[in-house]
Amino acid sequence: MMDQQKPDLEQLKQDLSAAIDVATGLDTLDAVRVHALGKNGVVTNLLKTLGGMSPEERKVEGPRINGLRSEIAGAIEAKKDALAAEELAERMASETLDLSLPPKDTPKGSVHPVSQVMDELAEIFADLGFAVATGPEIEDDWHNFTALNIPESHPARAMHDTFYFGENQMRDGMPMMLRTHTSPVQIRTMTSGEPPFRIIAPGRTYRSDSDATHTPMFHQVEGLVIDRDITMGHLKWTLETFVKAFFERDDIVLRFRPSYFPFTEPSAEIDMGFSVENGRRIVGGDPNGPDGGWMELGGSGMVNRHVIAACNLDPDEWQGFAFGCGIDRLAMLKYGMDDLRAFFDGDLRWIEHYGFSALDVPTLSAGVGA
Ligand code: FA5
Repeated sequence: MMDQQKPDLEQLKQDLSAAIDVATGLDTLDAVRVHALGKNGVVTNLLKTLGGMSPEERKVEGPRINGLRSEIAGAIEAKKDALAAEELAERMASETLDLSLPPKDTPKGSVHPVSQVMDELAEIFADLGFAVATGPEIEDDWHNFTALNIPESHPARAMHDTFYFGENQMRDGMPMMLRTHTSPVQIRTMTSGEPPFRIIAPGRTYRSDSDATHTPMFHQVEGLVIDRDITMGHLKWTLETFVKAFFERDDIVLRFRPSYFPFTEPSAEIDMGFSVENGRRIVGGDPNGPDGGWMELGGSGMVNRHVIAACNLDPDEWQGFAFGCGIDRLAMLKYGMDDLRAFFDGDLRWIEHYGFSALDVPTLSAGVGA
């Protein structure tokens, strides 16, 4: 009597196995799984009956019902793998790849001219043995001014229209600011290692300035060489070699015009000769020819002994030169833009026109300078 009420597990197994066998897709197979093993599935419900059985009965029925569950679960998994393999084989047979089709035209980003020029600088100066150094854009008063021989109330501070942080953002009692030039990297370099030094430091700088050739955020590259027996001759050769490589012309003449920077002594403004070719102003050629002349490249000089001493080095043993040039201006001169403000407007049409493809000219130093 009892035996008759018991579900026929053998029959159930056959029915479920048959349903699994005939399933032709993952959807139908999943329906079989839910029917058998889902929350209210037939096998799940059988498992629930174990709780109401006597211990003796459970001893017999438990292994049978659990065995059925694992057999069905195993069969479903095996069928699933077989269906997935079949589907893949079908797709591989039906889909073909037409290698003659043109590639999809996906939008490409481009390298900003400032980043491009920074890479070019890093590459040219690497050939001359210079490493790339960096420093923070938020600087303290000591690194940006005092150590560079511009003490408080020095009139030279007025040369830099500085963005200061508020009085409640002082650090160690010192006013903080957006660095006004890359020269503080000279200090950070000299105070953090052992001479000799030979570095360039390209980076962002900030001043409260705005017209066609001056923006509140701009870029400079600092150069610093500290060694024994360094002279202005080395400075001139280095800059000459740099501008010839950068503008890709051998006929560029430089002029050193006496100037004043508190952190160099003597100091010189560096001018490059230009001429006019096909109605365009070109760096190079004869500055004394018709329409020729001089344009400013940046400031330079021999590092002031007070600066060397402020960095705890002996100025009688170590000397050198430094220079600082506007990178944006270098980019404008080389690539022919005439308004600096457009560099930072974020207009995609401008960057598409003046930008560089990251893949066009792969260079060893790509990405190092920027
Ligand atoms: C300086 O900033 C010195 N630190 C340079 C220096 C370094 C001299 C090492 C000696 C030794 P100056 O203020 O002249 O110097 O700026 C240097 C260059 O930065 C300028 O020639 C110009 O090309 C660029 N520049 C300055 N202000 C701006 C601005 N607002 N926008 C774009 N370029 C600027």
